[in-house]
Amino acid sequence: MIGTVLAWLPDRVVALRMKIFALVNGQDAVTIPGPQVGAGDFKRVYADPAANGRSRGAALSDLFWYWLSPGPEVHQEHLEAGPRYDEVAKCTRHILVKSKKDSEELTQRVARHVLDGVRPGLVRLRDEMMPIWAELYYELVFDEPCPPEARDLIVAHADDVASALKCVRPRNMRRRARLTKYLRQRLADVPHPLPESLTPAEQAYYLQGTFFTTAVVQMSEAMAHLLMIIAQDDGIQRRLVDHPEDVDRVIDDGLREYPLFGIAHRISTAEIELDHLTIPAGTVLCFSYPDFAGQSAKEEFVPFGVAQNRACPARGLAPLTMRVVTREVLRRFSLASTAGHTRSIPNRGPALLTPRGARRKRAPLVWLAVRDRWEDVWRSLAQLVFGTYMVLDARRQSLCSTYFAGGNR
Ligand code: HEM
Repeated sequence: MIGTVLAWLPDRVVALRMKIFALVNGQDAVTIPGPQVGAGDFKRVYADPAANGRSRGAALSDLFWYWLSPGPEVHQEHLEAGPRYDEVAKCTRHILVKSKKDSEELTQRVARHVLDGVRPGLVRLRDEMMPIWAELYYELVFDEPCPPEARDLIVAHADDVASALKCVRPRNMRRRARLTKYLRQRLADVPHPLPESLTPAEQAYYLQGTFFTTAVVQMSEAMAHLLMIIAQDDGIQRRLVDHPEDVDRVIDDGLREYPLFGIAHRISTAEIELDHLTIPAGTVLCFSYPDFAGQSAKEEFVPFGVAQNRACPARGLAPLTMRVVTREVLRRFSLASTAGHTRSIPNRGPALLTPRGARRKRAPLVWLAVRDRWEDVWRSLAQLVFGTYMVLDARRQSLCSTYFAGGNR
């Protein structure tokens, strides 16, 4: 009986949560792939020049702005097309550009530094990975090694965003504000030219949003997925220890099986003509990555978005740095996990780390399985409560709608 409830409840709660989110979309949203537009037209519509409205006019934007606060109005992901967007996107490219060799060396250095402090035993993979990305993106932005106080502020902030996005906890804006304050004080130390059309306050928000929210959260999630895949398949793990270069395939397959984006949305700014349908201007287009991955051929998948429509600026850097970190982890530890592994990975990837070459203990893995099941039940209830609260709170605050209603562009 208890077993049935344990298996049933989390699934029901996830379904209910999805329903609540769908309600926020309103009636005019078109989900792709879906009944109106199939997987075959996913890339065609995504790449259409008229699929270029970013935030304005979609109720869903209020929710994303809420989650990526403070400063969502200058987050690169949220900016409407125009000179300000161009300037911000250029700055991001400038900060991310490095030679392959320099990027690999930097990643290896920070990965070793952080992993030196990781002890074997039961861990949450996302928590172990986050300091690596905090240090790496700090160094890309400031061009100097990351001091411990900055690393702590970045990790606390990124963890708060990731936990809120998964509805495991409500937002903690004071925690986020501490990083904003730090960045404001350090702006003069950034050796890159920052977007001149932004005020100093906005420049701090831009750095926070792009590098210490998006970069740190996405990379920690991507690595947690990759390491969970490795931890749950001894065949893959042995192969990667002997042939580290094979990791690229595992990264590609992993990003497809566990896409980091659930939905990316756009607002059409003109009609989009398909063979069987004309999508009117002003339609909210919801591109569903998991559904597209499930309904299209492997080579069709676009883990970093489509090149014609604001694809990820880190699409070159991300796999390269994941490769280096995986090699460093596997050099030190063998991984195993009996926990559940789902796309939203709200359990943060529980796993057992054993020093490479040592014998793996069974008991912690049995305990891990039991603990994960129990946590799943209370966590899914917490997600329902916090998710509902945040959806309503985001609606009440209407950050995006209010911004555009005030005449801003
Ligand atoms: C494996 C890791 C990552 C994956 C799978 C990923 C995936 C994506 C995807 C699918 C998009 C497009 C979303 C859309 O069409 O609306 C995107 C956009 C974006 N990503 Fe990433 N991302 C990753 C890491 C990063 C990192 C490390 C950064 C660091 C700066 C980053 C910064 C951005 C930004 C700023 C955008 C918005 C681009 C724009 O609108 O111009 N991402 N990412």
